Amino acid sequence: MASPLRSLVYDDSRYQKSFQLFLERSSEHQCMQDFIHNILPDILASIGDGKSHLNVIGVGSGAGEIDLEMFSELRLKHPGVTVDNEVVEPSSQQLHSYKVLVSQKLGLDYITFNWNKMTASEFEEQWKAKKITKKADFIHMIQMLYYVKDPGATISFFQSLLDKNGKLLIILVSGESGWGKLWQKYRNQLCNSELSQCVTTGDIKSILDSKGVSYKSYELPSQMDITECFTEGDEKGELLLDFLTEVLDFNKVAPPELKTGVLELLRHPDCSVQSEGKVIFNNNLGVIVIDSLN
Ligand SMILES: C[S@@+](CC[C@H](N)C(=O)[O-])C[C@H]1O[C@@H](n2cnc3c(N)ncnc32)[C@H](O)[C@@H]1O
Repeated sequence: MASPLRSLVYDDSRYQKSFQLFLERSSEHQCMQDFIHNILPDILASIGDGKSHLNVIGVGSGAGEIDLEMFSELRLKHPGVTVDNEVVEPSSQQLHSYKVLVSQKLGLDYITFNWNKMTASEFEEQWKAKKITKKADFIHMIQMLYYVKDPGATISFFQSLLDKNGKLLIILVSGESGWGKLWQKYRNQLCNSELSQCVTTGDIKSILDSKGVSYKSYELPSQMDITECFTEGDEKGELLLDFLTEVLDFNKVAPPELKTGVLELLRHPDCSVQSEGKVIFNNNLGVIVIDSLN
């Protein structure tokens, strides 16, 4: 049953505000940075097959901080290469922030940025309509597969674009995280399947296993301080609750039973640890790396 509650993504400005607060209250980007600087370099070293020009596609790049962090490692592994970077991002606000970041950062001359203000499926349609045959060496989808209708089909399309030795990198919340537990219990009430699939890397692994696609995976420990969610009327707590439930104004509009159940589960040991008066939610991420088809 589709949720009757209104999804947070209908209000881009509130979504971006709650996402920003989530980044402040969590170790999300720190744990991604640890992955980018410690594990990703070896993955990047294996792409490109010795070419002097690499094609990269970022799907759902947001404001680009993580993309640029990855480029610095790419550059270290492939000094002297030039890069063609397709940025696929439907939010004009995010795309604008990405462009500002690029304009402020020195040393990016080796990258050509192609801005695609569109969703992954619009990009796929356009790619097919234009019969583009360009292949990609590195494609990443970081925290975005929640927002496509059919994550399995999206992965198949982008995997088909990979050149020899190309890699597709997917990062989502881990199936073992608090998110995974929350969605196990409340997927039907919270997730509007038209807009968000509430998928974890556990779900993606099941899809890939059923198709016989091989992959490598990693778990990235991450936390989120959700203490404010338990103070009635706390503005930031309400924003975080919107982000956690993906429901616009969850605290105001959720039926009382759902609200009580969700708040109870969020502080339950399945989802969080409580220490020194703080409630620390398990925000562990999962990484999946898929090879090219050939
Ligand atoms: C949670 S943010 C992640 C941003 C960035 N990758 C990061 O990790 O900081 C999800 C991003 O996916 C974008 N997005 C939403 N629906 C999308 C779709 N159908 N196709 C591509 N991107 C989408 C959003 O605009 C947002 O920038």
